[in-house]
Amino acid sequence: MLRLLSRVFASIPIEGNRKAAAAHRSIWSAASVSSGFAVNPIMEPKLYRAPPEVRGMTSLDKEAFTQTITVPALRVPTGVINKVVKSLRKATIQRPGVPRVVQDKEESSDFRLVLLDPHRVSSPSSFSEAEAEALRSFSVAEELQYYELRLTYHNLKSEEVLEAVLPQGQDVTSGFSRVGHIAHMNLRDHQLPYKNLIGQVIMDKNPGVTCVVNKTNMIDSTYRNFKMEMLAGEENMVAKVKENGATYEFDFSHVYWNPRLSTEHQRVVQLVKRGDTVFDVFAGVGPFAVPAARSGANCLANDLNPESHRWLQHNCKLNKVEKKVRTFNLDGRAFIRGPVRQELPALLEGKASVHVVMNLPALALDFLDAFRGLLHQQPCCDENLPTVHCYGFSKDDNPEADVAERASHSLGFPLKDRCSVHFVRNVAPNKDMMCVSFTLPKEVLFSGDHEHTEPSAEPAPKRQKCEEATDSTQS
Ligand SMILES: C[S@@+](CC[C@H](N)C(=O)[O-])C[C@H]1O[C@@H](n2cnc3c(N)ncnc32)[C@H](O)[C@@H]1O
Repeated sequence: MLRLLSRVFASIPIEGNRKAAAAHRSIWSAASVSSGFAVNPIMEPKLYRAPPEVRGMTSLDKEAFTQTITVPALRVPTGVINKVVKSLRKATIQRPGVPRVVQDKEESSDFRLVLLDPHRVSSPSSFSEAEAEALRSFSVAEELQYYELRLTYHNLKSEEVLEAVLPQGQDVTSGFSRVGHIAHMNLRDHQLPYKNLIGQVIMDKNPGVTCVVNKTNMIDSTYRNFKMEMLAGEENMVAKVKENGATYEFDFSHVYWNPRLSTEHQRVVQLVKRGDTVFDVFAGVGPFAVPAARSGANCLANDLNPESHRWLQHNCKLNKVEKKVRTFNLDGRAFIRGPVRQELPALLEGKASVHVVMNLPALALDFLDAFRGLLHQQPCCDENLPTVHCYGFSKDDNPEADVAERASHSLGFPLKDRCSVHFVRNVAPNKDMMCVSFTLPKEVLFSGDHEHTEPSAEPAPKRQKCEEATDSTQS
C-alpha cells in the first residue's frame, strides 16, 4: 500500500513543552490517517523490513526489494543545516546510502528537509531536551513533516535482506571470517538452498569482498585447511592479509589461516627478544616466525604441507626476513629430531632464549614425546633450556589441568606447578583452544628414554649425562 502513495507531506506543530507529548501523538495519528495511511507508518516497528514477496527467493532479484516508506523530517533553513544535523546526530536517519538531507517539497533553495530516524522520532515529543533546545536556538520552524522515502536493496543491511528471504523463524546468521578479499562462511543445512543468494548479499554489502566461499566439510585433518565451495564472486583464492604489521600472501584453499589467532600470535611473539631463537614446528605460512624474525629473532620454521612451506618462504621474502628464517618441509617429529636437535646444543651454551612453538592443537601435545631423550648423547645442561608453547584443544571441564596432564604424559615428566596454561579461544560449544607453556625439563631432554629418537652420529659427550628421567607422570 505504501508503495502506491505519491509523495506526501504533512506538518505538525512542535511545542517547546515536552509534557504535551500525548496531545502531539493524537495529532500525529490524525494527520497520518488523513493522508491515507491505514496505520500510523511512523509507529510501524519493522519499518525497514523488505517487501513480503521476496520470501523464499533463491536467485537474487534486487528490484523486488524496492519499496516506499514514510519517515519524519524537519524543514530547516539552508544556512543552519549543518549545525542542525550535528545537533540531531542521534535522531537523524542512519541508513546505508540514504541521504540525511534532501530537497523540500517546494525545492526552495532556502530550505532543506532533514530526515529523521522513524524508530527514534515517532512524534515531536521524541526529541531530547538538548535537541529541542538546539532547534529553538537555530530558529527551526516548529513543524514535523513526513517524507516518502524510496528504499532499495542497496539501503538494506545484509541481515535485513536475509531475514526477509529465508524461512521465517529460522536463524539467518550471516557471520563470516574475512581473509583478505575472501569471505569464508559456514552455512547451516537450512541455509543451503539460499547459498548463492547469501553469497551475493555478503559480497554486495561488504566492500572489498570479491569472493565468498562456504566450508563444505570438517577441517582437513592433516594440513588444517578446509574444503570449500564458491558461493559468489570471482574464484581467486590467493589472499593478501596484514597481521601485526606483517603482510602475508597465500592460497587460502590449500593452507591454514585463521584471522582469529592474531592476538595469540602477537602474545607469543611479544615474548621473543632480539637475538632469541624460535623453532616453529607447525609454522603454516608464517604468522609466528615472520613477526618474530621482524623483531630480530632467528627462526627455524617448519610445515609438512608443501603448499604452506612454499607460501612460508614467499612470506619471508615479502617481509624481507628470508635471512632470519630457515624453512623446512618436514613432519613435526622429524623437524624436532633433525634441525632442532642439531641446533639446540650450541644454543643451550648461549645466553639468548630459545622458544619452541607448536600450534597444531589437535595433535601437538602428542608430538611432545619427540623431546624425550632428544639430547641423550649430549652433556647435561640445566641452563637456558627452551621454553615450549604447545597448543591443545580441550573438551574437559578443567581444560587447564587437562592440557597440562596430556603434555606431562607425552613428555613422560610431570609438569604440575612447572607450566602455565593460557586460554586462547573457544572454538566450539564446550571446546577450548589452550596453550601450555613450560621450560623443557632437562630430565626429558637428556633422558635415556629415547626409544623414539634416531641414533645419533654425534661424538660422545665430554660431560656427565643427567640422571635418566623415569616416566613419572603416572605418579
Ligand atoms: C593449526 S595450523 C597453524 C599454522 C600457524 N602456526 C598458525 O598459527 O596459523 C597447523 C599447521 O601444521 C601443519 N601440519 C599438520 N601436520 C603436520 C605435521 N605432522 N608436521 C608438521 N606440520 C604439520 C599444517 O599444514 C598447518 O599449516
